[in-house]
Amino acid sequence: MTLASPRVIGLPHPPLSDGEILLRAWAAEDVPALVRACADPLIQRYTSVRIPYTPEDAQMLVDAGRTDTVLPLAVTDAHTGELLGAVGLHAVDDRRSRTEIGYWTVPWARRQGVALAALQMLAAWAMADPPGLALARVELYAEPDNLPSQQVAEAAGFVRADLVRGGIALRGRRRDVVRFVLERAANPAKFQ
Ligand SMILES: CC(C)(COP(=O)(O)OP(=O)(O)OC[C@H]1O[C@@H](n2cnc3c(N)ncnc32)[C@H](O)[C@@H]1OP(=O)(O)O)[C@@H](O)C(=O)NCCC(=O)NCCS
Repeated sequence: MTLASPRVIGLPHPPLSDGEILLRAWAAEDVPALVRACADPLIQRYTSVRIPYTPEDAQMLVDAGRTDTVLPLAVTDAHTGELLGAVGLHAVDDRRSRTEIGYWTVPWARRQGVALAALQMLAAWAMADPPGLALARVELYAEPDNLPSQQVAEAAGFVRADLVRGGIALRGRRRDVVRFVLERAANPAKFQ
């Protein structure tokens, strides 16, 4: 008897781009920039990257790639190809029609709309019934003191839902998080 292998989430095709930034799969060429970016205290504080973050850690991200529940993407400059950040779906749950989304921007490209554009593009794509996915709800978790991330979420149309006590585990410690939600039904025009 052969067991069906879980279907890997397909890459957005054509790649998501607004002409300024472009989302693509992680590649070996990203390793040096990933290591530089993940030395940033804010990325270390608010995401689950390993500390210290080594070239081996970066290579693991490149090699791990996509699965049936995870779609990690590099956010790049559409003109130069330079790495600007990360955005990804995780905990994709087709049965419950929901996914989580996360992001960071390299310290040297902040306040230029990178996270906002990447978040909007990937969330809209996820809710537009791409092949193999049927999602109606995207959730985003930000720590209560991470006001920049919360502003990005709200600017992208996410609605602040509730405070989830101990909602995430970071480096072995449970942390409270504010849950933001984007629902297709709540914003149908955006997803037509
Ligand atoms: C939060 C983070 C992703 C924002 O990335 P960014 O690319 O700089 O964000 P954007 O330029 O798209 O910001 C969009 C809007 O969000 C708000 N915002 C973003 N960063 C802000 C900051 N440091 N202070 C105040 N408002 C901020 C602003 O309203 C901004 O619009 P404006 O610049 O026109 O005023 C980035 O600071 C980061 O990588 N932080 C560390 C990792 C992290 O916290 N990830 C999220 C975990 S939930």
